[in-house]
Amino acid sequence: MPDANGRGDVVLDVEDLRAYFFTRWGVVKAVDGVSFQLRRGETLGIVGESGSGKSVTSLSMMRLVPSPPGQIVGGRVMLDGEDVLRYSEGQMEKIRGAKIAMVLQDPMTALNPVFNIDSQVGEALRIHKRLSGSALKSQVVDMLRKVRIPAPEARVRDYPHQFSGGMRQRVVGAIGISCDPVVLIADEPTTSLDATVQAQYLRLLKDLQDETGVAIIFITHDFGIVAKMCDRVAVMYAGRIVEQGDVRQIFNNPSHPYTEALINSVPRMEERNDRLYSIPGQPPPLWDLPGGCSFAPRCEYAHERCVEYPPVYELAGGQTSACWLRSG
Ligand SMILES: Nc1ncnc2c1ncn2[C@@H]1O[C@H](COP(=O)(O)OP(=O)(O)OP(=O)(O)O)[C@@H](O)[C@H]1O
Ligand code: SF4
Ligand SMILES: [Mg+2]
Repeated sequence: MPDANGRGDVVLDVEDLRAYFFTRWGVVKAVDGVSFQLRRGETLGIVGESGSGKSVTSLSMMRLVPSPPGQIVGGRVMLDGEDVLRYSEGQMEKIRGAKIAMVLQDPMTALNPVFNIDSQVGEALRIHKRLSGSALKSQVVDMLRKVRIPAPEARVRDYPHQFSGGMRQRVVGAIGISCDPVVLIADEPTTSLDATVQAQYLRLLKDLQDETGVAIIFITHDFGIVAKMCDRVAVMYAGRIVEQGDVRQIFNNPSHPYTEALINSVPRMEERNDRLYSIPGQPPPLWDLPGGCSFAPRCEYAHERCVEYPPVYELAGGQTSACWLRSG
């Protein structure tokens, strides 16, 4: 059922997800009790510094955590009402790249240099939609047209190195949406692109979303991109979501000190010449987390209570915050 704000049905419901790596240094708790929901047509940003567990969260949903040393040790990932953590590998293969798809971080490595664009865009359509021959060919051309590749009929025979970085990125986008996914995960879709190409690509993803209603998870360390692109945001720190809610509400009124610090590190136009604020200190090693709030060593508001890990507080408007300052 759509919610009170007219947003679509819940298509993804992640509950208490835990994914650990069992290494010789100890147990790396890369994802440690992550919960969020995603509705049809909605964009959720997952934001946090490097190593906070964003990619392992998405790999867990796709059931692609490398094992060993990784293992999903708990939780539920309800996709369209079914827990994919209970699926067999055979069932996963049917939905991976189809019902739930992922656009990878780096368009250079996401495309295979030895195959032409035709075979790479066509692969998922061949496997999941069982298309072949001229039907497959015309669908591939259609997908390339959708992601605004000029003269797609001619370009399908080209190889990745014959495309610019921005075009390769769009081809990866075409592969991601080729089988009409319910959920598309875009993991740092913009790092290797310049600002203009990046803006065009993000716009394209939003247009595709308007056309298809696909729910998008946007993974980035840039709160500026989240503010522009997303409806809701989940802020990750050391394997956990520390704050979650409506993007505008959080951007204007962050309730967790880590979110506040992340927002302060977004460059502002008028401060172009100033030195960028960056969060002092380093995230803690995930195999040796301090007791209590993981952000405490870097937090200017830390106090006696923070030696205990804070519970998740529910604030007005559906915002949540895992910080003792919100205890009332
Ligand atoms: N194969 C692995 N073996 C051991 N530890 C791993 C493995 N893959 C990831 N990790 C650890 O899991 C933690 C979370 O990593 P993850 O890749 O999810 O971070 P991230 O938030 O996506 O960072 P980035 O912004 O750099 O992409 C890190 O501490 C990382 O070292
Ligand atoms: S719980 Fe304490 S240390 Fe953690 S973010 Fe809140 S104030 Fe800072
Ligand atoms: Mg990552």
